Amino acid sequence: MQIVNTIEVLRHTINTWKAAGYSIAFVPTMGNLHAGHCQLVKLAKRKADKVVVSIFVNPTQFGVGEDFDSYPRTETQDQEKLQAIETDLLFLPAVAEMYAPDAKTVISVTGLSSIHCGASRVGHFDGVATVVCKLFNMVQPTIALFGLKDFQQLAVIRIMVKDLNIPVDIIGVETVREASGLAMSSRNAYLTPEQQQIAPLLYQSLCVARAAIVAGNDYAAIEQQVVSFLQQAGFAPEYFRICRSSDLAPAQSDDIDLVLLVAAKLGKTRLIDNLYFSK
Ligand code: PAF
Repeated sequence: MQIVNTIEVLRHTINTWKAAGYSIAFVPTMGNLHAGHCQLVKLAKRKADKVVVSIFVNPTQFGVGEDFDSYPRTETQDQEKLQAIETDLLFLPAVAEMYAPDAKTVISVTGLSSIHCGASRVGHFDGVATVVCKLFNMVQPTIALFGLKDFQQLAVIRIMVKDLNIPVDIIGVETVREASGLAMSSRNAYLTPEQQQIAPLLYQSLCVARAAIVAGNDYAAIEQQVVSFLQQAGFAPEYFRICRSSDLAPAQSDDIDLVLLVAAKLGKTRLIDNLYFSK
C-alpha cells in the first residue's frame, strides 16, 4: 500500500493509473476504522481496479464545542487494517495540505444541510460537502463509496455531485452493525461499558417504529412514543423523524419509501442511526 501525504504525489499516482486505463474507487474516511469502513474498502476492490482511501479528520465539519480534538486518531492500526485488505493507496494529508489559510470557498447544499442533523450541527454539512468536493477533485475517482449509516450525509453528497456535475458514481453501502444491532461508528469508542448496554436500544426503537408504521399507526404518535422510550432508556434524544427517503421531508401517510432518522446523546456521545424501508 502506497501512503501519500501530498496532493502533488497523489495526483501523479492517479494520473499514472488513469493513463494505464484503470478505474478508481474512493473511500473517504476520518480514520479510526471499523468493520463498516473495511466493508466499504472490500466492496470498492470488487468494483474498480484501484482503491484509494483517505484518512482526514476534517476540522471544518466540527462545530465549536464538538469533538474535533478528542476524535479518535488510530493511524497505526488503521494502516494495518487497510494493508490487510489490500488498499492500493492511503491518502493521509495534514490540515495545511487540505486547506490554505486564505481559502474562501465553501460548498453548501442549501435546504437539506439545515434540517435534522444540520439543525443542531450548524455548518456541519457545508464542511462535509466542501471536503468531499475537494477530495473528489484530488482523487478524480470513477466511483466513491459511503456508508448508509450517515443517511443525510449521503443525500447531501448525492445532490452536490449532481448539481456540480462531478463525474463520479456514488454508492451507498449498508450499515454494518454489532451483534446487538448497534450501528458501527468511530464514536462508539466513547461509550462506557454501561452505555454500551443501552446504546443498542437506539436501533431497537427504529425497528419498533417501523412495525408501528406498517401496522398503520399515526406518525405523530409514533414519533412521540419513540422520543419518550429513548428518554426513559437514558438517552437525550435530539430528534426522531419519519421521513420520505427521497428528500428527507416529513413523510405523508401515502408515501411508500420511508426512512426513520434518529439522533440522540448518550452521556456526551452523540449517536445517529436510521432505518429505510418501503411500506
Ligand atoms: O463520514 C465521514 O467519515 C466524513 O464525514 C467524510 C465523508 C470522510 C468527510 O470528512
